[in-house]
Amino acid sequence: MAIERLVEPTAKSGDIEEEKIEISLRPTSFKEYIGQEHLKSNLKLAIDAVKKRNDGATLDHILLYGPPGLGKTTMAGVIAHELGASLRVTSGPAIERAGDLASILTNLKDGDVLFIDEIHRLRRAVEEVLYSAMEDYKLDIVIGKGPAARSVRLDLPKFTVIGATTRTGSLAGPLRDRFGIIHRLEYYKEPEIEQIITRTAGILNTEIDPEATKLLATRSRLTPRIANRIFKRVRDYADVNGDGIVDKNMAEESLKLMEIDYLGLDPADRNMLELMEENYGDRPVGLTTIAALTGDEATTIEDYYEPYLLQLGLIMRTPRGRVITEKGRKHLQESKNKV
Ligand code: ADE
Repeated sequence: MAIERLVEPTAKSGDIEEEKIEISLRPTSFKEYIGQEHLKSNLKLAIDAVKKRNDGATLDHILLYGPPGLGKTTMAGVIAHELGASLRVTSGPAIERAGDLASILTNLKDGDVLFIDEIHRLRRAVEEVLYSAMEDYKLDIVIGKGPAARSVRLDLPKFTVIGATTRTGSLAGPLRDRFGIIHRLEYYKEPEIEQIITRTAGILNTEIDPEATKLLATRSRLTPRIANRIFKRVRDYADVNGDGIVDKNMAEESLKLMEIDYLGLDPADRNMLELMEENYGDRPVGLTTIAALTGDEATTIEDYYEPYLLQLGLIMRTPRGRVITEKGRKHLQESKNKV
């Protein structure tokens, strides 16, 4: 059984309280949205152009990709808000049949934004319906079965798809080609994460001192969702063990309790690195083998553990598998001494 992780960058569905807080923390406009400056200026330009032309044309379809937790869903909300449009949210795995997609599409209105999370997980048959819907706002459906079957073409409202994926590699070429704007979300810079933590503390009415903010920012894997989650845990700790003010001491103690080390790695990351080192040393090991060792799905390793470990240079990807680097080995040694 995989270890339940505090630093998991996915939204934890099912925890209603957490979801409510997460929604309340979401920025709604470009002005409020911290970081991703390059993406924001490109999107702003595209949105301003659509508004200025005001000729009934909609914004190009947008594909956002990059590691989880960096704000793809949040950005979709911001785009819809800036356009003055309504947002419909769905996801690749949620659309089981072509008919489900047809019902979503026929319920849209002109100018609406349709956000499809995990778009790489759309089924083939669904994807094919989406092609012509995106390309010329037509819905091709087959009515009836066998020799009596006939195909009809329905007009759809002019809408914008925002697709989100952690991997562009697994997106079918024809689908990818239908996006006019394709952008990668980058890991945030530490000062941006500090700003996000400060903003969150303000919204949640918690006093936090600058040193604590800085410390939490270094442990948040440059990912806003993780920064906010860690912040909430530290705030709980300060409420229970102190006077509710998050200072450096409170932050340090609760990070220790959460076993998050100075690079932001948690026990699950260190466990994976340890298993790689113990079993394979400096030899490469395949993804499925790592997954078998840790008890996770291979896709979990690939989407959630790996990107940050690669970014830090603790592991490397080679054609023959993943290798723990010298830096990774050193980190394991050091983190044993100072968590
Ligand atoms: N909360 C989560 N992500 C954010 C961001 N990019 N800007 C502001 N607040 C956030």
